[in-house]
Amino acid sequence: MNIDQPKTAYLFEGVTESTLPDEVVKAIRSFLKTEHLYVSATREITTKLEILNDEFKHIKDRNPIHLIKTRIKTPRSIYNKLQRLGCELSAESARANLNDIAGIRVICPYVSDIYLVAKLLTSQDDIELIRTRDYIKNPKPNGYRSLHLIVTVPVFLSDHKEIVKAEVQIRTIAMDFWASLEHELAYKLTEGKSEDQIRELRECADAITNVERRMQNLYNILYPKNECT
Ligand code: GTP
Ligand code: MG
Repeated sequence: MNIDQPKTAYLFEGVTESTLPDEVVKAIRSFLKTEHLYVSATREITTKLEILNDEFKHIKDRNPIHLIKTRIKTPRSIYNKLQRLGCELSAESARANLNDIAGIRVICPYVSDIYLVAKLLTSQDDIELIRTRDYIKNPKPNGYRSLHLIVTVPVFLSDHKEIVKAEVQIRTIAMDFWASLEHELAYKLTEGKSEDQIRELRECADAITNVERRMQNLYNILYPKNECT
Protein backbone atom coordinates (compact mmCIF):
# COMPACT_ATOMS: atom_id res chain seq x y z
CA MET A 1 0.00 0.00 0.00
CA ASN A 2 1.17 3.52 -0.67
CA ILE A 3 -0.33 6.05 1.68
CA ASP A 4 1.97 8.83 0.45
CA GLN A 5 0.38 9.26 -2.96
CA PRO A 6 -0.85 12.70 -4.04
CA LYS A 7 -3.84 13.73 -1.95
CA THR A 8 -6.57 12.53 -4.30
CA ALA A 9 -4.94 9.14 -4.59
CA TYR A 10 -4.27 8.34 -0.92
CA LEU A 11 -6.98 5.75 -0.80
CA PHE A 12 -8.14 5.21 -4.32
CA GLU A 13 -5.23 5.01 -6.78
CA GLY A 14 -3.67 1.59 -6.67
CA VAL A 15 -4.99 1.23 -3.13
CA THR A 16 -8.58 0.26 -2.70
CA GLU A 17 -10.03 0.90 0.70
CA SER A 18 -10.62 -2.81 1.03
CA THR A 19 -6.84 -3.43 0.99
CA LEU A 20 -6.45 -1.31 4.11
CA PRO A 21 -7.83 -2.08 7.54
CA ASP A 22 -10.88 0.07 8.33
CA GLU A 23 -9.15 1.86 11.19
CA VAL A 24 -6.25 2.89 8.92
CA VAL A 25 -8.65 4.31 6.31
CA LYS A 26 -10.49 6.20 9.05
CA ALA A 27 -7.26 7.49 10.60
CA ILE A 28 -5.84 8.75 7.27
CA ARG A 29 -9.13 10.43 6.41
CA SER A 30 -9.32 12.15 9.79
CA PHE A 31 -5.66 13.22 9.58
CA LEU A 32 -6.14 14.74 6.12
CA LYS A 33 -8.92 16.89 7.56
CA THR A 34 -6.46 18.40 10.05
CA GLU A 35 -3.42 18.62 7.75
CA HIS A 36 -4.18 22.27 6.88
CA LEU A 37 -3.58 23.23 10.54
CA TYR A 38 0.04 22.08 10.31
CA VAL A 39 0.53 23.84 6.98
CA SER A 40 -0.83 27.03 8.60
CA ALA A 41 1.46 26.64 11.63
CA THR A 42 4.55 26.34 9.40
CA ARG A 43 3.43 29.38 7.41
CA GLU A 44 2.95 31.46 10.56
CA ILE A 45 6.32 30.53 12.01
CA THR A 46 8.04 31.08 8.66
CA THR A 47 6.49 34.55 8.40
CA LYS A 48 7.65 35.43 11.92
CA LEU A 49 11.19 34.34 11.04
CA GLU A 50 11.18 36.25 7.76
CA ILE A 51 10.01 39.42 9.54
CA LEU A 52 12.87 39.09 12.08
CA ASN A 53 15.35 38.52 9.27
CA ASP A 54 14.11 41.60 7.36
CA GLU A 55 14.36 43.74 10.50
CA PHE A 56 17.96 42.65 11.07
CA LYS A 57 18.85 43.40 7.49
CA HIS A 58 17.42 46.86 8.01
CA ILE A 59 19.10 47.55 11.38
CA LYS A 60 22.39 45.63 11.18
CA ASP A 61 22.76 45.17 7.43
CA ARG A 62 23.05 41.39 7.78
CA ASN A 63 20.73 38.39 7.89
CA PRO A 64 20.89 36.00 10.86
CA ILE A 65 18.86 33.52 8.77
CA HIS A 66 20.33 32.09 5.59
CA LEU A 67 17.46 29.77 4.60
CA ILE A 68 14.15 28.39 5.91
CA LYS A 69 12.77 25.01 4.84
CA THR A 70 9.46 23.48 5.88
CA ARG A 71 7.88 20.06 5.61
CA ILE A 72 4.72 18.34 6.78
CA LYS A 73 5.08 14.74 7.93
CA THR A 74 3.52 12.36 5.42
CA PRO A 75 0.62 10.08 6.42
CA ARG A 76 2.94 7.08 6.06
CA SER A 77 5.52 8.54 8.47
CA ILE A 78 2.78 9.47 10.92
CA TYR A 79 1.35 5.97 10.70
CA ASN A 80 4.78 4.35 11.17
CA LYS A 81 5.73 6.59 14.10
CA LEU A 82 2.44 6.06 15.93
CA GLN A 83 2.87 2.31 15.50
CA ARG A 84 6.48 2.50 16.68
CA LEU A 85 5.42 4.42 19.78
CA GLY A 86 2.56 2.01 20.41
CA CYS A 87 0.04 4.86 20.22
CA GLU A 88 -3.52 4.76 18.98
CA LEU A 89 -3.92 5.32 15.25
CA SER A 90 -6.03 8.45 14.89
CA ALA A 91 -5.68 12.12 14.04
CA GLU A 92 -6.27 13.01 17.71
CA SER A 93 -3.54 10.64 18.80
CA ALA A 94 -1.13 12.04 16.16
CA ARG A 95 -1.91 15.53 17.38
CA ALA A 96 -1.33 14.62 21.02
CA ASN A 97 1.67 12.32 20.66
CA LEU A 98 3.73 13.67 17.75
CA ASN A 99 5.62 16.93 18.04
CA ASP A 100 7.04 17.00 14.54
CA ILE A 101 4.11 16.80 12.11
CA ALA A 102 4.88 20.43 11.25
CA GLY A 103 8.63 20.91 10.75
CA ILE A 104 10.57 24.12 10.17
CA ARG A 105 14.32 24.02 9.57
CA VAL A 106 16.18 27.31 9.96
CA ILE A 107 19.71 27.56 8.57
CA CYS A 108 21.87 30.34 10.03
CA PRO A 109 25.40 31.56 9.16
CA TYR A 110 26.86 31.37 12.70
CA VAL A 111 26.16 29.52 15.96
CA SER A 112 25.43 32.82 17.72
CA ASP A 113 22.66 33.45 15.16
CA ILE A 114 20.99 30.20 16.21
CA TYR A 115 20.59 31.32 19.82
CA LEU A 116 19.55 34.81 18.74
CA VAL A 117 16.83 33.47 16.42
CA ALA A 118 15.63 30.99 19.09
CA LYS A 119 15.41 33.74 21.70
CA LEU A 120 13.59 36.19 19.44
CA LEU A 121 11.10 33.59 18.20
CA THR A 122 10.25 32.09 21.60
CA SER A 123 9.87 35.48 23.27
CA GLN A 124 6.95 36.36 20.97
CA ASP A 125 3.61 36.53 22.83
CA ASP A 126 1.79 33.85 20.88
CA ILE A 127 4.64 31.32 20.75
CA GLU A 128 4.89 28.90 23.63
CA LEU A 129 8.09 26.93 24.10
CA ILE A 130 7.27 23.33 25.04
CA ARG A 131 10.71 21.71 24.88
CA THR A 132 14.32 22.51 23.98
CA ARG A 133 16.94 19.94 22.95
CA ASP A 134 20.34 21.47 22.53
CA TYR A 135 22.46 19.12 20.42
CA ILE A 136 25.01 21.91 19.99
CA LYS A 137 25.99 21.95 23.66
CA ASN A 138 25.43 18.17 23.78
CA PRO A 139 26.06 16.68 20.30
CA LYS A 140 24.77 13.18 19.54
CA PRO A 141 27.46 10.43 19.61
CA ASN A 142 27.62 10.44 15.78
CA GLY A 143 28.37 14.20 15.82
CA TYR A 144 24.87 15.52 15.01
CA ARG A 145 24.49 19.16 16.11
CA SER A 146 21.39 21.42 15.99
CA LEU A 147 19.07 23.24 18.35
CA HIS A 148 15.60 21.66 18.43
CA LEU A 149 12.61 23.56 19.78
CA ILE A 150 9.09 22.25 20.14
CA VAL A 151 6.72 25.22 20.15
CA THR A 152 3.02 25.88 19.83
CA VAL A 153 1.43 28.61 17.72
CA PRO A 154 -2.24 29.60 17.52
CA VAL A 155 -3.93 29.14 14.15
CA PHE A 156 -6.99 31.37 13.79
CA LEU A 157 -9.86 29.75 11.89
CA SER A 158 -13.28 31.17 10.96
CA ASP A 159 -14.94 30.47 14.30
CA HIS A 160 -12.22 29.36 16.73
CA LYS A 161 -8.49 29.04 17.18
CA GLU A 162 -6.39 25.90 17.33
CA ILE A 163 -3.10 25.61 19.20
CA VAL A 164 -0.73 23.68 16.95
CA LYS A 165 2.65 22.12 17.77
CA ALA A 166 5.66 22.43 15.51
CA GLU A 167 9.31 21.33 15.61
CA VAL A 168 11.80 24.07 14.80
CA GLN A 169 15.31 22.81 14.03
CA ILE A 170 17.86 25.61 14.00
CA ARG A 171 21.38 24.92 12.72
CA THR A 172 24.27 26.56 10.93
CA ILE A 173 25.17 26.08 7.27
CA ALA A 174 28.05 23.86 8.46
CA MET A 175 25.79 21.72 10.68
CA ASP A 176 23.32 21.40 7.81
CA PHE A 177 26.09 20.30 5.45
CA TRP A 178 27.03 17.47 7.81
CA ALA A 179 23.43 16.48 8.70
CA SER A 180 22.29 16.39 5.07
CA LEU A 181 25.14 14.12 3.98
CA GLU A 182 24.87 11.95 7.09
CA HIS A 183 21.12 11.56 6.50
CA GLU A 184 21.78 10.30 2.97
CA LEU A 185 24.49 7.92 4.23
CA ALA A 186 22.20 6.64 6.98
CA TYR A 187 19.76 5.37 4.34
CA LYS A 188 22.55 3.31 2.77
CA LEU A 189 23.61 2.02 6.15
CA THR A 190 20.28 0.60 7.28
CA GLU A 191 21.99 -2.45 8.77
CA GLY A 192 23.58 -0.12 11.29
CA LYS A 193 26.89 1.63 11.15
CA SER A 194 30.13 0.09 12.33
CA GLU A 195 32.14 1.64 15.17
CA ASP A 196 34.66 2.86 12.59
CA GLN A 197 31.98 4.53 10.50
CA ILE A 198 30.49 6.28 13.53
CA ARG A 199 33.97 7.47 14.55
CA GLU A 200 34.61 8.74 11.01
CA LEU A 201 31.30 10.67 11.01
CA ARG A 202 32.13 12.12 14.41
CA GLU A 203 35.57 13.20 13.20
CA CYS A 204 34.04 14.87 10.13
CA ALA A 205 31.57 16.70 12.43
CA ASP A 206 34.44 17.83 14.68
CA ALA A 207 36.47 19.06 11.68
CA ILE A 208 33.46 21.03 10.39
CA THR A 209 32.85 22.49 13.86
CA ASN A 210 36.47 23.60 14.01
CA VAL A 211 36.25 25.37 10.61
CA GLU A 212 32.98 26.98 11.70
CA ARG A 213 34.64 28.39 14.86
CA ARG A 214 37.52 29.80 12.84
CA MET A 215 35.09 31.49 10.42
CA GLN A 216 33.15 32.97 13.35
CA ASN A 217 36.38 34.29 14.92
CA LEU A 218 37.26 35.92 11.63
CA TYR A 219 33.82 37.51 11.49
CA ASN A 220 34.21 38.83 15.05
CA ILE A 221 37.55 40.43 14.14
CA LEU A 222 36.26 41.98 10.93
CA TYR A 223 32.94 43.16 12.35
CA PRO A 224 33.65 43.96 16.01
CA LYS A 225 30.45 46.01 16.32
CA ASN A 226 28.25 43.06 15.40
CA GLU A 227 30.39 40.64 17.37
CA CYS A 228 28.95 37.17 17.83
CA THR A 229 30.03 35.07 20.80
P1 GTP B 1 12.26 11.54 16.06
O1 GTP B 1 11.36 10.44 16.45
O2 GTP B 1 13.25 11.15 14.97
O3 GTP B 1 11.53 12.79 15.68
O4 GTP B 1 13.18 11.78 17.30
P2 GTP B 1 12.98 12.61 18.67
O5 GTP B 1 11.56 13.02 18.86
O6 GTP B 1 13.65 11.87 19.76
O7 GTP B 1 13.75 13.92 18.32
P3 GTP B 1 15.28 14.26 18.07
O8 GTP B 1 15.43 15.59 18.69
O9 GTP B 1 16.24 13.20 18.48
O10 GTP B 1 15.41 14.31 16.46
C1 GTP B 1 14.40 14.76 15.64
C2 GTP B 1 14.91 15.10 14.25
O11 GTP B 1 16.23 15.65 14.28
C3 GTP B 1 15.02 13.95 13.28
O12 GTP B 1 13.78 13.65 12.67
C4 GTP B 1 16.04 14.49 12.26
O13 GTP B 1 15.42 15.44 11.39
C5 GTP B 1 16.99 15.26 13.15
N1 GTP B 1 18.08 14.38 13.63
C6 GTP B 1 18.22 13.86 14.87
N2 GTP B 1 19.33 13.10 14.95
C7 GTP B 1 19.92 13.14 13.72
C8 GTP B 1 21.11 12.54 13.18
O14 GTP B 1 21.85 11.80 13.82
N3 GTP B 1 21.38 12.81 11.87
C9 GTP B 1 20.61 13.61 11.10
N4 GTP B 1 20.97 13.82 9.84
N5 GTP B 1 19.47 14.18 11.59
C10 GTP B 1 19.13 13.95 12.88
MG1 MG C 1 11.22 13.67 13.62
